Amino acid sequence: KYGVRHVGRKKISVIGAGNVGATAAFLIAQKQLGDVVMVDIVDGVPQGKALDMAQAGPVEMFDAKLTGSIGYEETADSDVVIITSGSPRKPGMTREDLLNTNAQIVASVAENVVKHSPNTVIVMLTNPLDIMTYHAWKVSGFPAERVVGQAGILDSARFRTFISMELDVSVEDITAMVMGGHGDTMVPLPRYTTVGGIPITQLISTQRIDEISDRTRNGGGEIVELLKVSGYYAAGASLAQMAEAIVLDKKRLIPCSAHLTGQYGIDNLYIGVPIILGADGIEKIVEIDLSSEELDSLHRSAATYREGIGVIGY
Ligand code: APR
Repeated sequence: KYGVRHVGRKKISVIGAGNVGATAAFLIAQKQLGDVVMVDIVDGVPQGKALDMAQAGPVEMFDAKLTGSIGYEETADSDVVIITSGSPRKPGMTREDLLNTNAQIVASVAENVVKHSPNTVIVMLTNPLDIMTYHAWKVSGFPAERVVGQAGILDSARFRTFISMELDVSVEDITAMVMGGHGDTMVPLPRYTTVGGIPITQLISTQRIDEISDRTRNGGGEIVELLKVSGYYAAGASLAQMAEAIVLDKKRLIPCSAHLTGQYGIDNLYIGVPIILGADGIEKIVEIDLSSEELDSLHRSAATYREGIGVIGY
């Protein structure tokens, strides 16, 4: 029937039709992963962007149905809900102010998401990522495997980009692992980063690897400095990859923010670790060998997030 979602087609909802949300929505439609619903609080924005994107369909040859809304009815029974709604840090705002503002937004969004899609997988993007993912998990009441945060894909994509620039080699041949929080405390792992299967430690000097790791850690900041707002193409692409892993049940082994229950010596915290992502969400948390130095970095990263969830009352 006209206006009714095609039977068998997946539904992906994106809450927050801002820069990252809209980029993710467009890539998801282009990849024909399913129908896409965008929700925002600014009336006209999600509807206008959905119509604009739909009109790219005949040019790009995709049939995804795109809908924009300021309510959640259209999101009902989504297979995946991506949450990007949030506020950027404004002048004079402390980190804690931002934490509390975004915690309120994420709580109200998560409640609506659960009400309309009780069986969905939630993919979080709002910053501070690992803290907001914990918060969304708590508010949703979902099993932890159905709430996952986007962190490591973007961070390792930045690492891969810089390695590609360094070696002048295809990004296709580069796989990278970046663990830890999505912030200054992230932990790039050169030992687990390869070009055509060859660890980069055999291809790039230690000094250059350190410099590239630092640039990766500061990857978000470097873009903000140039653009004056946060980057969104790579973050949007990373979200689309997560949606793809879930709706196609690809079981990708990728770094994401996942709820740990003792793995890596960390308990009851969301932080970036290698996971297997499929139709059930986080299907497995993969534990890899870390040196004591790498483990220390991960624990330092965890300590800042422990403090962060404390600020919002956990
Ligand atoms: N419900 C739905 N949408 C909301 C809500 C809400 N309660 N509150 C804010 N929004 C929307 C805004 O109207 C805006 O369109 O979220 C969108 C955020 O988009 P941008 O400001 O463009 O931010 P973006 O660069 O996309 O980043 C998204 O990621 O980096 C984090 O914390 C940052 O919150 C930001 C998020």
